[in-house]
Amino acid sequence: MRLQAALLVAVAARGGAGTPNCTVYIADPGTEFNSASTSEFPGSATPEKHVAHWMHTGLLSSALRTSRIQEARVIFVAHYFLKHQEKGWTLHDWKRQLKGGPARLFNGNTELLRRWRDRPFDFAIAPMLPSCAEVRAPVWLDMARWVVINPWCIYRHGYDIVAPPIVSPSPASDASPRANARRHFITYVGKLRKPYLQPPMTKLRFLMWSHLRAHPNVTFLAEDVQKAAAPYLPSDGSAQPRCAVCKFSCKQCIALPPATAHLPLSVGSMEEVQSRAHYQTYLKNSTFCLVLRGDHENSRRFSEAILAGCVPVLIADMPAWPFARRLDYKKFSYEFSWAGASRDPLLVVNELLRLPAGEIAVKQRELARVRPLFQYRADADRPGAVQQLVQDLCASPTKTTELMSVVARGTHKRPSKPSRGLAGGADGHAKRLGYPGRTSLYELRVSARR
Ligand SMILES: *[C@@H]1O[C@H](CO)[C@@H](O)[C@H](O)[C@H]1NC(C)=O
Ligand SMILES: *[C@@H]1O[C@H](CO)[C@@H](O)[C@H](O)[C@H]1NC(C)=O
Ligand SMILES: *[C@@H]1O[C@H](CO)[C@@H](O)[C@H](O)[C@H]1NC(C)=O
Repeated sequence: MRLQAALLVAVAARGGAGTPNCTVYIADPGTEFNSASTSEFPGSATPEKHVAHWMHTGLLSSALRTSRIQEARVIFVAHYFLKHQEKGWTLHDWKRQLKGGPARLFNGNTELLRRWRDRPFDFAIAPMLPSCAEVRAPVWLDMARWVVINPWCIYRHGYDIVAPPIVSPSPASDASPRANARRHFITYVGKLRKPYLQPPMTKLRFLMWSHLRAHPNVTFLAEDVQKAAAPYLPSDGSAQPRCAVCKFSCKQCIALPPATAHLPLSVGSMEEVQSRAHYQTYLKNSTFCLVLRGDHENSRRFSEAILAGCVPVLIADMPAWPFARRLDYKKFSYEFSWAGASRDPLLVVNELLRLPAGEIAVKQRELARVRPLFQYRADADRPGAVQQLVQDLCASPTKTTELMSVVARGTHKRPSKPSRGLAGGADGHAKRLGYPGRTSLYELRVSARR
């Protein structure tokens, strides 16, 4: 009870968002945990793919950095969480490796340990979470604020921070690509992913592709038609799919809509896109880029579209977009719900076709203005993603006491099987959207136990 009161006071004493003199201390657990030579898992071999790496590098030379723990507002734990892996799963072995608790994480540094005990919400970690199955961190780490790209299982509104996906290599130039003379009106170039994995949400890309691939105003090129769609289509084009409900055990659940069923599968297939550079010219040459949720809500296309100066059309139902505390997404993007877009894929195209040219130009100008904020740079003093993330961390969490009191009483538990495909930490959000299935969501559990 006393701890709770102390935390309340501590939170009240912290200023509002955008505090000018925010200073950051880097808690460095040592190169063993954050060096470049972490090649144990193919997806994590390059530290440039990790937010922790960018925050660490960006803060090292930053004017915000302090070497005194007491005067730091934020403690960034520069642990990349790449090291402890087994069986090819990244983060797999956290529990064993961090069994020593905070003392292990902070190498027994008593000042850091005291701070952790008194104000755990001053600490930030940025682990890569490729999927929910990989959240195997010890529960005490939940006291820190998590900086995540995929707010899928662990994201807690008012506490954690959403980072934009990293695009590497970053565009060489800071200048936004010119807005005029964009050849394509609406573009999607990429994978369809797995329509059967967690339907209906994961069917979105297939549905959009199957309806729009021949539309005169849409350039829809799917990389994996032969893998994601072709094997599961009924052999007789007019036949019903073999199962009405998609699931992992019954993948024969998709069908082409009558309007496009007669088209060969090569229409809307990505064969002609040869390289990454070629791919990027499509985005740079498009007015609108579809950012469609796939197996996960978030997609690298979000950052790619923004950096290409292509107005993002978001159909992902993310519980929160990066830097939404400060940015007004309505000014530089359009958003549709997956449910609406899935019901009527043409609705999206028709709405965009109706937009007056002037409105589009205004969005493009605003996009050019915010674009640099989504770029990761090895310099936290220049406008960019790292600077934005630090600003988010410097602003007080709004849910601290609620969460901490639960954690402090030891009644706190993660769902043992996080439900996949749901917008983590946002149960109400998921329900509003009509997401089917269980809603064993993190934040809800926490508040239900108060
Ligand atoms: C921030 O730092 C500057 C220069 O160090 C100082 O003049 C100013 O008063 C500080 N502002 C606050 C709110 O502490
Ligand atoms: C949409 O396609 C039609 C038919 O090709 C074309 O006439 C029209 O200019 C296109 N509109 C836009 C905004 O690209
Ligand atoms: C975009 O398309 C136009 C017209 O086809 C072409 O001239 C231009 O080079 C393209 N730009 C990019 C960046 O691909």
